[in-house]
Amino acid sequence: MSLTREELIQKAAADLVRPHYAVALTGAGISTESGIRDFRGPDGIWTKDPAAERLAYEMYGRLRANPKDYWKETLNSPGLFGNLAEVKPNRGHFALAELEKMGILKCVITQNIDNLHERAGSQRVLDYHGNHFKLRCMRCNKRYLIEDYDLQQLNKNDELPPRCRYCNGILKLDVVYFQEPIPDDVAIQSLREMEDCDLLLICGTSAVVYPFANLPRIARNNANITIIEVNMEPTPLTEDGISDYFIPGKTGEVLPAIVAEVKKLRK
Ligand code: APR
Repeated sequence: MSLTREELIQKAAADLVRPHYAVALTGAGISTESGIRDFRGPDGIWTKDPAAERLAYEMYGRLRANPKDYWKETLNSPGLFGNLAEVKPNRGHFALAELEKMGILKCVITQNIDNLHERAGSQRVLDYHGNHFKLRCMRCNKRYLIEDYDLQQLNKNDELPPRCRYCNGILKLDVVYFQEPIPDDVAIQSLREMEDCDLLLICGTSAVVYPFANLPRIARNNANITIIEVNMEPTPLTEDGISDYFIPGKTGEVLPAIVAEVKKLRK
């Protein structure tokens, strides 16, 4: 007999309070309640504009072919999400930050580039697809904050692309494009988290983009792991039985409800 959503939330809280190395994996779904559209949901950016997705697949090739043109184009375009500096973390982000503060959640590995986990107070965040507010060197992987460079001035002086102050390599936006490898440091650390974890909380991802979507499949091999999925709709992880159970609903509602149940159990 299937459990109600409330019973599933209580089950997740009970699973979270046992001594665990819990890790959260998140996708665009956790940020939609902050006003950032996802990609493949009913109102997703790719769903509504397949041409934008095709263009996104070309970005990495265009960058490598002509970094100066890539930068001119990047500086002139509003970007996929508009002005990310204006958006705020929502209750889902704060719930994960609270689970970390309680010593339950050890790490958040996110596909989102919006920096909202960091802004919600999560301390250990792996930006698996990079971070919109950073630049990264294509040669040595060193990262800088965007404000460390006056990009408009470099453009005016015809001095693009920006160069790494450490190895003089070409800098790109830290976001990871399709076909671009995941930065080594994040890729290796994420695999370590999958080896260490025995509870995985997967929130707001369609789980169709690799190699991120492989992480839960790797963790599945751990003995006595519990994998919990919170999403508006089932995903391949649900259908393939990678997740032990699936809690339907908005992360901004389900995650705070789980935190409330955890607090009751810890009293
Ligand atoms: N609560 C829970 N789930 C939600 C919510 C919400 N408030 N809003 C949307 N969702 C679900 C959608 O139904 C969908 O299943 O979140 C999922 C988001 O899936 P995608 O839009 O595919 O986003 P994501 O999985 O993060 O995409 C991975 O694809 O284009 C690339 O680099 C991009 O990082 C992105 C990657």
